[in-house]
Amino acid sequence: MKITMIGGGYVGLVSSACLAAFGATVTLVEKDPQRLDALQRGEIPIYEPGLDALLCEQRAVGRLVLCSSIAQGLKEAEAVFIAVGTPARRGSGHADLSYVYAVAREIAEAAPHNLLIVTKSTVPVGTGREVSRIVNSLRPDLHFSVASNPEFLREGQAIADFMNPDRVIIGLDQKSDDKGTRARELLTTLYHPLNHPETRLVFMGLESAELTKYAANAFLAMKVTFANEMADLCEATGADSDEVRHAIGLDPRIGPDFLIPGPGFGGSCFPKDTQALAVTARKAGAPSPLVETTIASNEARKRRMAERILTLLGDLTHPRTVAILGLTFKANTDDMRQAPSLTVLPLLYEAGLTLRVYDPHGMEQARALLPDGIYFARNALDAAQGTDLLVILTEWEEFLHITPSELQKSMKGRLIVDYRGLWKNREFASCGLVYHRIGKKDQTKKEGT
Ligand code: UDX
Repeated sequence: MKITMIGGGYVGLVSSACLAAFGATVTLVEKDPQRLDALQRGEIPIYEPGLDALLCEQRAVGRLVLCSSIAQGLKEAEAVFIAVGTPARRGSGHADLSYVYAVAREIAEAAPHNLLIVTKSTVPVGTGREVSRIVNSLRPDLHFSVASNPEFLREGQAIADFMNPDRVIIGLDQKSDDKGTRARELLTTLYHPLNHPETRLVFMGLESAELTKYAANAFLAMKVTFANEMADLCEATGADSDEVRHAIGLDPRIGPDFLIPGPGFGGSCFPKDTQALAVTARKAGAPSPLVETTIASNEARKRRMAERILTLLGDLTHPRTVAILGLTFKANTDDMRQAPSLTVLPLLYEAGLTLRVYDPHGMEQARALLPDGIYFARNALDAAQGTDLLVILTEWEEFLHITPSELQKSMKGRLIVDYRGLWKNREFASCGLVYHRIGKKDQTKKEGT
């Protein structure tokens, strides 16, 4: 089966590589000449474990080709996937659909024959139908159908998520002449190599598929936020958040996942999708106060993470130096979008602290986004050098190899603040270090430097 993927961003690259591995012949269209050149040279613009090898392998066997023009890409395609960005529009929280609609117009102008047009980008309810309207108005002669096939990939494990998904959501245009039959057949063929495709492919209407993506992400964002609020309550009351988390997770209606408290959710999906869902819900006359509160609670939390550090440091009239380990929004990605570090670090910097930071893969991206004057260290122990306090902001596995005695030798002070619970089983006290983490009784009130 021949398909075209439009957009060589995160979703487009992962989907192209994986669908090629499933046996499809994929043409990936990337408009940005620099990005396309880099891809042609085998340079992958994002850090995603396994992606470079898979892309390289699929190009070598000829199942994946790259080009810059939609017209060229569509020549023999049976289906075209739109995987361009849908960033949040500045200020409003609306998803910016200008790229999606521009691509729809180009597809309409270039499509040589009967075609299935699939939206893979995360798009608000109604987008698929608008794509259909645009194409139809420009090419009333063209036989085409639309479908929605949103992605649920987690950064850092996107290949495994694609190859072995919990479910593949497929929204069909049930109002079309064939009630979505052709789309159903094509997408069933495409995903056939999955284990047990009959139980994994979930067919529904266009609007349901579009909303499912937002509802899933908003629910997970809400769950993390709830876990964060409960962890605060544990600290305030003397309860232990690990014990409470484990106990509530045993109830299958709640489940154990997504209950690890942290410095607030970030990334390319949760912040953008919760915003967009809140706007959609208000516009539709069915507002979601739960989602709106989740957004506000998360924003406040990121600021509180900085305030906590300042409280622990106490007297700020003397110069203070703080090490930050981890800058990306989570581990195993170089993605800095909406990372808690982007809120926490500027607040600490404005408070007059000297900052020494390190991240295994996010340094380059972070440098462009954080205040000048921050020291970007060579490694974690270099960041720790001479500092009064050390913070873990991202749960990189590499930090597990650092020992308390190495920290004690590198640091000047003795405060460790672990916002991910990464070092929870370490013995710090024997090295004279004081260990703070989320969800344990608040020690800020009794400890100083
Ligand atoms: C998410 C969804 O999981 C994926 O299905 C969707 O389509 C895209 O958005 P991703 O953004 O890669 O994927 O991150 P994820 O691993 O889900 O984590 C999201 C945020 O929640 C991160 O900031 C993470 O640190 C935080 N988180 C997650 C917690 O703080 N605690 C948890 O227990 C889980």
